[in-house]
Amino acid sequence: MALVRKIKVEPGSNSYEIRIGSGLLDQAGRFLYEAGFSGKAVIITDATVKDLYGDRLSMSLSGSGFAVSTLVVPVGEEQKSLETAGGLYQGLSDSYAERTTPVLALGGGVIGDLAGFVAATYQRGVPLIQVPTTLLAQVDSSIGGKVAVDHGRLKNMIGVFYQPKLVISDIDTLRTLPEAELANGLAEVIKSAAIGSKKLFEFLENNLKKVRSLDMAVLEEMVVETARIKAEIVSKDEKDLGLRNILNFGHTAGHAIETVSKFRLKHGQAVAIGMMVAARISNRMGLLDKKDVDRLEKIINKAGLPAEMYDINIDDVMSAMKHDKKISQGKIRFVLLKAIGNAIVTEVSPSLVEEVLVGSQ
Ligand SMILES: NC(=O)c1ccc[n+]([C@@H]2O[C@H](COP(=O)([O-])OP(=O)(O)OC[C@H]3O[C@@H](n4cnc5c(N)ncnc54)[C@H](O)[C@@H]3O)[C@@H](O)[C@H]2O)c1
Ligand SMILES: [Zn+2]
Repeated sequence: MALVRKIKVEPGSNSYEIRIGSGLLDQAGRFLYEAGFSGKAVIITDATVKDLYGDRLSMSLSGSGFAVSTLVVPVGEEQKSLETAGGLYQGLSDSYAERTTPVLALGGGVIGDLAGFVAATYQRGVPLIQVPTTLLAQVDSSIGGKVAVDHGRLKNMIGVFYQPKLVISDIDTLRTLPEAELANGLAEVIKSAAIGSKKLFEFLENNLKKVRSLDMAVLEEMVVETARIKAEIVSKDEKDLGLRNILNFGHTAGHAIETVSKFRLKHGQAVAIGMMVAARISNRMGLLDKKDVDRLEKIINKAGLPAEMYDINIDDVMSAMKHDKKISQGKIRFVLLKAIGNAIVTEVSPSLVEEVLVGSQ
């Protein structure tokens, strides 16, 4: 049997394990049984992931004696809504889910956030098992207990902190991921390396080609190391009161650019540009060597992500940033780098941000 890599997440409330490896979908039933669950289990997934992996997870669970129901939602961010959550509450009730019935979120970050929100609120909370199937979900969204739905323009604003009981990351699922989704996740991997691990950054410098050609051993190493960084950060700052802010590296300008592009740019692409903006600001403020800015640019290019923006109105980006409550006393809060693997949060003057944006076109 293939090796299972384990990472502990130890936030103030419940601690839990992330298990990473090949073929773990087939072991999920046993994992749950060994964790003390029995009886019913409910899988929440999207239509694409259901077709790819729904049966395997379901068979694994029924093989361990669970009576399985599967609730399927359409694909897309729009499903992170109170309306879809409402349908899922009904589905749980129709499946006779009880307080002890585990809910398995099988899919990307959309399903993780939505099913997590539903599990957190149904009967005041039923056990949640994250089964992430995108790179972004395996290294980022399934770890840390933030679950939420969107509401109109309020993105991720209706939610709670709700830790899963277990995260099961089967890296084999990444084989079917479209290339653009892989690149999307790679932006968060690069982010984590840049803020938290010189070692991972160097690993990426040497191995991104293998990652993109889906070398499984390399992918597994990358997912393990990236998950470890997020696990460490959220363990120290469960409720996002300080340290967790550094996970926003590349996201201050990134979110604004993503919005202004009217979502022509994917999140990861916008974050890649945002990371370059932050790195250039860091350099201009005398914090980061130019050679490290260049290393970041190289790695972003190697990942198939953009380092520069095209066709983006800078005034719009500036006002989007000001809207994003990242501004205090006229300054914009940024996560900057002092070195590869070492981040700080600080205030930056809008004029410097604007200058760097102009230079990033
Ligand atoms: N909770 C958090 O801490 C956190 C952190 C980062 C992002 N997020 C959220 O995550 C969401 C984005 O997640 P995402 O990028 O995973 O998007 P997603 O869930 O929409 O998945 C992307 C696409 O890939 C498909 N897919 C999933 N797994 C697949 C597989 N193995 N093979 C083929 N196709 C597959 C999905 O059906 C979907 O079409 C956003 O809503 C974002 O707000 C949450
Ligand atoms: Zn992100």
